[in-house]
Amino acid sequence: MPENTLSIVAIVPAAGVGSRMQADRPKQYLTLQNKTILEHTVHQLLAHPLIHRVIIALSEQDPYFDSLPLSNDPRVTRVCGGKERADSVLSGLNAVVEPHNTFALVHDAARPNVSHQDISRLIDTGVKHPVGAILASPVKDTMKRSNMSGEITQTVDREKLWHALTPQLFNAEQLKMALEHGLKTGAVITDEASAMENIDRFPSIVAGRSDNIKVTSPEDLELMTFYLSKRDFQETTDV
Ligand code: CTP
Ligand code: MG
Repeated sequence: MPENTLSIVAIVPAAGVGSRMQADRPKQYLTLQNKTILEHTVHQLLAHPLIHRVIIALSEQDPYFDSLPLSNDPRVTRVCGGKERADSVLSGLNAVVEPHNTFALVHDAARPNVSHQDISRLIDTGVKHPVGAILASPVKDTMKRSNMSGEITQTVDREKLWHALTPQLFNAEQLKMALEHGLKTGAVITDEASAMENIDRFPSIVAGRSDNIKVTSPEDLELMTFYLSKRDFQETTDV
């Protein structure tokens, strides 16, 4: 599909509470390098030449979003998220006006360090593939399986094992159907790809950078501060 006819809407689930971060507010509202994590993430998406609209799913009682300049950006639409991440993504998809012709690029609010090169490579592959595509990074460590007592039972071949990252790109209408089906039938849906796999549709993997980490625990904050400072420095030296 020629790039000028491509319609891509970014959907950012940001309705989580961030329990593992143990902070005084949801992790997407922690400030790193003078901006909240949510702002870093959404600015990085909107700075990509093929992304012109971002739908953000927020918790119903979110007291933080309205005070961010982002809340007045005409390219940003706010929707109400849900109980699980899949509910939040579905709520975002419901706000897409023409789901039939649109690709949804779903990206966690908690992954501010996604690179434009990875987004471009994901889009290139995802729009051509009949199902869609996700960014993933290859597993580096030796992988073990354990039993209930915490003893090793097996070394798992890491050859074809990946960490599933975001963004993940799918036709918006197909993803909406897959998520609705998964939620209705009680399937375990932890990312968009798993909703598609659940209906026997298998997306492509695009190898992405392992520094596209999801800020999850307190120790991730220092590392993310370092990544973001490096990016700020590159942007300053690029001009
Ligand atoms: N998310 C969401 N709606 C939910 C749960 C999660 O929109 N009901 C979002 C989070 O805000 C985050 C992304 O999904 O941007 C990935 O989820 P995760 O990293 O698990 O965030 P939290 O659920 O907030 O964190 P935790 O699991 O530690 O509570
Ligand atoms: Mg969670």
